[in-house]
Amino acid sequence: MKDEQVRELLYQALETEIGGVDVYTTALRCAENDDLKEEWDKYLEQTKNHVTIMEETLRKLGLDPNEETPGRQVVRTIGEALVESMELALADGEPGQAQIVAAEAVVLAETKDHQNWHLLGEVVKNATGEQARIIKEAYEQVEDEEDEHLYHTKGWARELWIESLGMKAVLPPPEEVRDVDSAIGQAQAEQARKAMM
Ligand SMILES: [Fe+2]
Repeated sequence: MKDEQVRELLYQALETEIGGVDVYTTALRCAENDDLKEEWDKYLEQTKNHVTIMEETLRKLGLDPNEETPGRQVVRTIGEALVESMELALADGEPGQAQIVAAEAVVLAETKDHQNWHLLGEVVKNATGEQARIIKEAYEQVEDEEDEHLYHTKGWARELWIESLGMKAVLPPPEEVRDVDSAIGQAQAEQARKAMM
């Protein structure tokens, strides 16, 4: 494996979690549905914990969590743009619209987050010794939560859009009701939504 790129992935994973805290903090100001607020409140707390876990992981690997990399700057810029998109929608003040923008912003942020952790899982499978042990410890604490963040919020984004289009929506979404934690489960939940109306 290319050590330098593994380091880059670790730094990007940290930066994604840091940006995630800002994304959820802003998304909560956009949320109107009480179930969604409760869900994002939980995800915000989990994401704050992921920042701590990533900082500790980097330190255990002998890396400085404050080190800047070009990739980190890219991740940070995208996170800031997602926050800005929600601020724009909030300023517009159209009821329900900022909530949808926020759900899409969370899906975009969590797609990157989810991929980071998937890749860290691949690194764990191929790394050896102390490095593998340290990254595995973080992976086991975080990975399940990342599945939930992505798949459940995808469901929210879809159903909130459907509701806004004047069609019958399933709220909370099937992904949340069925406690979906995989891509297959998400596809099945989407298929089952008609039966849940
Ligand atoms: Fe996440």
